[in-house]
This record gives sequence, C-alpha cells and structure tokens, in this order.
Amino acid sequence: MKLGFFSIDLRVHKKHDVPTAESSHFAESNENITNTPNLFSHVTLQVRVQAWKEVSGKDMKFVNLDVANEYDLLVQLIKDEQPDSIVHFAEQRAAPYSMKTSKTKRYTVDNNVGGSNNLCCAVIDSEVDAHVVHLGTMGVYGYGTSGGEIPEGYIDVVLPGGREANILHPAYPGSVYHATKCLDALLFQFYQKNDALRVTDLHQGIVWGTNTPQTIKDERLINRFDYDGDYGTVLNRFLMQGAMGVPLTVYGTGGQTRAFIHITDTARCIEIAINNPPASGERVEIFNQVAETRRVRDVAKLVADQTGVDVNMLPNPRFEAAENELDVANRKFCSLGLDPITLDEALFKEVTEVVNKYKHRCDPTKILPASFWNKKRAEECASLDPSSVKINA
Ligand SMILES: NC(=O)c1ccc[n+]([C@@H]2O[C@H](COP(=O)([O-])OP(=O)(O)OC[C@H]3O[C@@H](n4cnc5c(N)ncnc54)[C@H](O)[C@@H]3O)[C@@H](O)[C@H]2O)c1
Repeated sequence: MKLGFFSIDLRVHKKHDVPTAESSHFAESNENITNTPNLFSHVTLQVRVQAWKEVSGKDMKFVNLDVANEYDLLVQLIKDEQPDSIVHFAEQRAAPYSMKTSKTKRYTVDNNVGGSNNLCCAVIDSEVDAHVVHLGTMGVYGYGTSGGEIPEGYIDVVLPGGREANILHPAYPGSVYHATKCLDALLFQFYQKNDALRVTDLHQGIVWGTNTPQTIKDERLINRFDYDGDYGTVLNRFLMQGAMGVPLTVYGTGGQTRAFIHITDTARCIEIAINNPPASGERVEIFNQVAETRRVRDVAKLVADQTGVDVNMLPNPRFEAAENELDVANRKFCSLGLDPITLDEALFKEVTEVVNKYKHRCDPTKILPASFWNKKRAEECASLDPSSVKINA
C-alpha cells in the first residue's frame, strides 16, 4: 500500500528551510508556529526521516509543499505517487491561536478550509481513487450539555411532518479553528456526493503523551511538545507544569468536560481508518477518535496529587460553558480492535521524564494564556501577568 504523507511536512521547518513558500501567508504563520516555545530542539524532518530509516529500515519520502497555496504541485504529487490513502493533518491546529486577532482568524480559515478544498479537488483532478483520512475534532459537536450520548458523526432526527432522517450531527463550533473543521466536514460531504470521493473524518479528542512505540526507538523521532498557552494541549500542559513546580493553569471552574486520547492511540486509529476505507459511493465515514472523557479540574487533581503542585484557578480566556457533561460513543474503533489507553499515572511518568530532561528549554513567561475569545474575556484576564510565573523545579 502506498500512503501520502505530504501534510506533515512543515511542522519542524524554520522559514529559511521553506523557500518555495517564502512569500506565502502560510510561511508567515508557520514561522509563528516554529517560533513558539517547544521543549524539544527542532530536529528537521529530513533528519527524522533518516532516523526512521535507521530504526525501521523503511524509506519515507518527504516533499515540502503548502497544500493551501501550491495546488498544481499537489495534483502532480498525487499523480506521481498514486497513493491508496492520504492522511490529511495539514491545518493550523491551535484554537487559541485562531482566536488571537482578525489576522489569525482569517489565516486559519484560508489555510484550513482552502487546504482541505484543494486536497479534495486535487484527488478528483488527478483521477486517483485515493481514500482521504482527515484529522477533525470532537469540537465540531460543541461542548454544551447535549442531554445524551454523542453518536459518531450522524444523528437520527425527526423532521417537520414526522419524516425520519439520519443527518450530519449539527455543527456547534466554539472557536474559528473548530469552525474550519465543521466547514471541512461539509466539503467532504459535498465531494463524496458529487464525485464519489472516499473520505474518513476522524473526530479526535485532545491528544496527550509524548511517544508512540515507534518514536520511542530514537530520540530524534520525538514529537514536538508545546507547553505555551496557544499551542499546548491541556493535559500535556498540566504534566509539564507539574514537572516544573508551576501551579496548574485551570481555566474558570475547571468544569469543562473534554475527550482525551493518547498519542499512541491516535496513530493506531489512523492505521485502523486506513485499513477500513468506505466503499466507493458510500457516505463519509466518521469515527469519534477518543478514549475517554474527563473534567478538566479532575485531570488537574490527578496531576497535582502526583506532583505536589498547587492548582491555580484562572479567569477563563475562552468563551465556553463553565460546566458541561460529555458522553461520546467510540464503539466503531473499539469494534475494529482498539483497546483505548486511558489516563494512567505510569504514562504520566513517561511524559514527566521527557519534560524533566528538556526543562531547561522552558520559557515560563509563555505558560499563561495569551489569546482571548472576545473583548470581555480579555478584560477579565487583564490581571494575568506572564512574568509572575516562576519555575520551582
Ligand atoms: N493535537 C491535538 O490535540 C489534536 C486534536 C484534534 C485534532 N487535531 C488535528 O490533528 C492534525 C495534526 O495536528 P497536530 O496536533 O499533530 O499538530 P501539528 O502542528 O504538529 O501538525 C499540523 C501540521 O500541518 C502543517 N500544515 C499546516 N498548514 C499546512 C499547509 N497549508 N500545507 C502543508 N502543511 C501544513 C503544519 O506545519 C504542521 O506540521 C491537525 O489537523 C489538528 O487540527 C489535533
């Protein structure tokens, strides 16, 4: 089987490594991303590809292109490679970054929706019957209390006149980033109907952990570890804060319930999705890619109990329900062989050990939130002082 991996290419690049995209908006934003604090040194993707060859004996090809702006190259790549599957990671993936300014909102929409639309058009133009596997988010369903289990993508409804239907679950995004994943879902629905494009959309929970069984084989393969307020995901941020002796940054009451998945299961789910493509003409396949749901303050307590740090309740920079329930179906992946990894203190230890090794790279002034959902939230957070955070480890 041939796979297309041309979406993961730019994550480790500095601007001077990306000459073809130098003048594009993507390069500008990508520079923002690569300039964000990251606990690991930036090993270039070329080095990581070489490291993977050394540990596995397998060749992985790396092509550097911007899917939102280099359409012709994308079509040519698909024609040349004739992939069976294309795993589409290539989006600006930080909700806080997407809410920072009008510039980052516009960039997130242009890059994410433009990139997904380009990919669908490119697969169709190239006349290659590739299965597109897209990384979406649980956030497309919204985080209100829905009063029942969230099904996998589609929901039974009764329309006016008593007609029964099974439709895409209503979209209810909580940020511009999440809105782009909802728009992606509509594009996939359209291109499946119109052109019989085969698509799987993975509605993924919040990823935590640092290593998979593959990346642990060589330090050069470790994923990036973002701990700052814009790019860091909540559990990894707490684990990093615990290891640094910094009070945990819980927003509001911490009553938000969210879905979590370990990075090893992310990789496993993508493998399962690739191996179970929808047939030609079948509607978009949607999986909820989650292991479990937990309340943020309960997650903070787990980390605080293990590390002895305090829990700091901050004014919430996000505009979201203070408390919500979240009950999510994940039966499809489980029936296909996933045995989900749940929050486990032994695995916390693995992350903490990695953080301890690289903690000299941490800039504590980046730990507090730096993006605010609206003017009111910015005003409520005005007292937060980034320079007040001190490392005590
Ligand atoms: N990490 C999570 O908790 C999480 C949860 C749900 C969904 N996701 C989704 O998973 C996917 C991968 O995210 P990640 O967490 O590994 O983050 P990441 O930033 O490591 O990966 C995204 C990659 O896409 C690249 N990219 C962005 N725009 C591009 C473009 N126009 N052309 C080419 N490459 C481009 C970035 O450079 C980056 O390397 C994203 O689509 C994200 O929205 C992540």
